[in-house]
Amino acid sequence: MRTETIDHSQLTQQSLTDFDSAKIDATTMEELQNVGSDKWTRYAGCIGAFIAEMDYGLAPCVTNAIKEASDHNRLGYIPDPWKKRVASSCAAWQQRYGWDVNPACIRPVPDVLEAFEIFLREIVGSGNSVVVPTPAYMPFLSVPQLYGVKLLEIPMIREATETVTEGAWSFDFDAIEQAFADGCHAFVLCNPHNPIGKVLTRDEMLKLSDLAAKYDVRIFSDEIHAPFAYGQNRHVPFASINGQTAMQAFTSTSASKSFNIPGTKCAQVILTNPNDYEMWMQRAQWSEHQTATIGAIATTAAYEGGAAWFEGVLHYIQRNIALVNTEMSTRFSHVGYIKPEGTYIAWLDFSPLHLDDPASYFLKKANVALTDGRECGTVGAGCVRMNFAMPYPLLEECFNRMFNALHADGII
Ligand SMILES: Cc1ncc(COP(=O)(O)O)c(C=O)c1O
Repeated sequence: MRTETIDHSQLTQQSLTDFDSAKIDATTMEELQNVGSDKWTRYAGCIGAFIAEMDYGLAPCVTNAIKEASDHNRLGYIPDPWKKRVASSCAAWQQRYGWDVNPACIRPVPDVLEAFEIFLREIVGSGNSVVVPTPAYMPFLSVPQLYGVKLLEIPMIREATETVTEGAWSFDFDAIEQAFADGCHAFVLCNPHNPIGKVLTRDEMLKLSDLAAKYDVRIFSDEIHAPFAYGQNRHVPFASINGQTAMQAFTSTSASKSFNIPGTKCAQVILTNPNDYEMWMQRAQWSEHQTATIGAIATTAAYEGGAAWFEGVLHYIQRNIALVNTEMSTRFSHVGYIKPEGTYIAWLDFSPLHLDDPASYFLKKANVALTDGRECGTVGAGCVRMNFAMPYPLLEECFNRMFNALHADGII
């Protein structure tokens, strides 16, 4: 299967009309607060840049499907035909990444975190350990202990350069191998990576896979941010690489990040290891049952009909990334930053400015709500995680507020 490349210049105006960027630009803080999301209500009066949701509304095909479901009383427990629709539409979506995956190995689950919990409970097992490269998506650090699994944080290596566009993150393969050699048999791969925005190359994943094969390690592959890969970066599903990776992977993905539907509760697991499939059918039926029918309907609509809307989202976000890059190379040039290759999240290191707790600082002094980097691992001290998938004018406002606070305090 040939990998589909997204050539933005080839997109016709017609194909982008589903996504109304002028309307997004005109969206005010007040309107977002009135929507009532956690992102915009948890910290009253603040710009919500912490939780990973986009402020871009719903694709029309998703709205229509949800309305139609309600008109036709389709809100009972999830039936088998909808599970199959989720699987086939998810499989078709995976072809964007060149993966011709069999829909029969795709099962519904309420969310990616539930899939992670099942991985910890059924595959890793209490008393064992899991490697999580850091900084990491916060629950990867807090959930393992709920299942008696020991967390091994391994910091990513940051190769910063003079220009923000040229830095890069890489795995510390020596430390990872040492952890495997010491008896750890599980690894969390988050690709594209939240919060550092790294999109892993095939070679990096092959290297990880070969180490995993040497030490009999299973890999939880979180691919929820898969559709967000920019420029030359291409998402490669870990399990799609070869037979070895397919057997190592326990993949979970969802339309929830790309289509703003996390509250509809329908993610997917892709079980390319037949033993996992057998385990799943015996031990994860309650999780399937808890998956929401409305989520299955929204997910299917998104995967089947949302591609054009999503292209509009990608265009919009890349404009925002350009703004983040500009800010980070001018007014915030002392802040550690590497341009994200994917996701809509930036990792900002304020330690060169000697800000101990930048998240609290900006919450109090700038009315900007960011994620405290320490929630992403011990390496996160002095850092924040920023979600920049907001209306462009609000992103400008966000940086103005942050800069003005630092300037007023004589920090910049
Ligand atoms: C990398 C990553 N994985 C998982 C999740 C949570 O997904 P879900 O709501 O499906 O559990 C998020 C949400 O921000 C995320 O960024």
